[in-house]
Amino acid sequence: MLNIFGFIGILLLLLHGGCAHTYTRDDFPNQFVFGSGTSAYQVEGAANEDGRKPSIWDTFAHGDGDIASDHYHKYKEDVQLMANIGLEAYRFSISWSRLIPDGKGPINPKGLQFYNNLINELIRHGIQPHVTLHHFDLPQTLEDEYGGWVSRRIVKDFTAYADVCFREFGDRVKHWTTINEPNILAWFGYDFGVLPPQRCSRSPIANCSRGNSTTEPYLATHHMLLAHASAARLYRKTYQNLQHGFIGFNLLTFGLVPKTNSSEDIRATRRVQDFLVGWFMDPFTFGDYPDIMKKNAGSRLPFFTKKESNMVKGSIDFLGINFYYTLYIKNSPSSLKMEERDYNADMAIEFERNDTPTHQIPITTWRLQRILDSLKNNYGNIPIYIHENGQKTSCNSSLDDWSRVKYLHAYIGSMHDALRKGSNVRGYFVWSFLDGLELVGNGYEECFGLYYIDFQDPSLRRKPKLSAEWYSSFLNKRTMNPKFHMEIEKNTHALSHSLLQYNAMEGSFES
Ligand SMILES: *[C@@H]1O[C@H](CO)[C@@H](O)[C@H](O)[C@H]1NC(C)=O
Ligand SMILES: *[C@@H]1O[C@H](CO)[C@@H](O)[C@H](O)[C@H]1NC(C)=O
Ligand SMILES: *[C@@H]1O[C@H](CO)[C@@H](O)[C@H](O)[C@H]1NC(C)=O
Ligand SMILES: *[C@@H]1O[C@H](CO)[C@@H](O)[C@H](O)[C@H]1NC(C)=O
Repeated sequence: MLNIFGFIGILLLLLHGGCAHTYTRDDFPNQFVFGSGTSAYQVEGAANEDGRKPSIWDTFAHGDGDIASDHYHKYKEDVQLMANIGLEAYRFSISWSRLIPDGKGPINPKGLQFYNNLINELIRHGIQPHVTLHHFDLPQTLEDEYGGWVSRRIVKDFTAYADVCFREFGDRVKHWTTINEPNILAWFGYDFGVLPPQRCSRSPIANCSRGNSTTEPYLATHHMLLAHASAARLYRKTYQNLQHGFIGFNLLTFGLVPKTNSSEDIRATRRVQDFLVGWFMDPFTFGDYPDIMKKNAGSRLPFFTKKESNMVKGSIDFLGINFYYTLYIKNSPSSLKMEERDYNADMAIEFERNDTPTHQIPITTWRLQRILDSLKNNYGNIPIYIHENGQKTSCNSSLDDWSRVKYLHAYIGSMHDALRKGSNVRGYFVWSFLDGLELVGNGYEECFGLYYIDFQDPSLRRKPKLSAEWYSSFLNKRTMNPKFHMEIEKNTHALSHSLLQYNAMEGSFES
């Protein structure tokens, strides 16, 4: 006879085992790397010091980043904080116009010195530098001279800039990312025109003084792909054998969910995947753009010559992905009837983002899993780094950032699931290390940092948030403080509940 109480006991045990998210650093491979990141314009400050010239973000933000988190002057203290919490890697970007103020031509010795100092300080503390070359902050000079990314001349100047970085820093930097979130730069910088360089011609949300939304998103992206490929070719030919590093690329990814389960919305959702991710990953994997983009954009989509196609194909050693939000996708075929279509109209969709009323980012780990699955299945299981993932809070909120602790706990736990399922994910970086100027949010109103900075206080003193304490106990393989256990248990139940909901609601969408 079945002992019903025993059965329930086993069931509870199974349930608990299935979602017992009490893991430690030791549950992950040694080579898997845990870090945190920032980008130059968001934290460095010292915008007009030591020979740096403006980037297009200085122009756009009217000097909001002049001081920022003052990382330029406080880098030693910051690296010490990283070491204190046990960070294994630090992802940062080089300000092109600090290193080469005019975008091309002479190197600024003080800029060179700063990045050498920062990299040396990281190495001294056993922290791997993961470096991005372009994080939205194109030198203003190149924008003024020839329109930046819309001109093919950028390919040569970007390659020369990359050459300086590989030559000067490549003995110590093993992970290079050429361009951060080019898909967002193209969509919001050249179609909607709301982010620098604010180019557009038919945006519903901005009036631009120059630009062409029908052609420039495609043109800028084409040049970003060629510039990346050219830098990657140079790295592989001249540096990789000596320096033994890797060169990759970055994309912002979204959870993509059809608004209804109609076949139209499901197809539209796949189309968005092609427009946002396939736009880059198809050329990297197959040497050409996705068919649906060729069909909908026609001759406005540039084409690769045979030689270019061969250069772009296979030009990444890894892909970095940033993940925060979900977009709900509704098919909108009427936009294809417009004669002068922009990039957004070519997608033929409407979308909504999954913000919560509290303005926190909902925890949706299963959607990140889906993205990893889809990269594995469609693009040959290349190595992946989670370059950005994190929770926002209002900048002046308390240091007890439970919402961030829960968020990080859930996503880092999901890395474990991803590895078990055969994903080639190699590392995870919390966005961000410090509170800073948020580029695609609301300036200093939304903060993502593990460290709090009071921007009203001239000393810009750093204070660890609870999330820094949690990350530190994880990284240092310490037993977690019981206060974390209790809160996280509550979270675990919420999480398994949403997973059940997901199975019921989104199960119909399989790519
Ligand atoms: C753009 O300019 C037009 C004409 O001046 C104005 O009606 C419209 O509201 C502006 N749109 C935005 C988003 O600023
Ligand atoms: C955008 O470029 C296309 C192709 O060169 C051209 O036909 C169109 O008139 C341009 N639109 C604007 C608003 O300049
Ligand atoms: C989704 O599909 C189910 C059947 O599988 C149907 O009952 C339901 O009404 C559909 N929902 C929507 C929003 O289309
Ligand atoms: C925090 O900032 C928000 C928006 O700037 C403001 O409305 C709120 O009153 C501030 N709260 C505190 C505690 O300072």
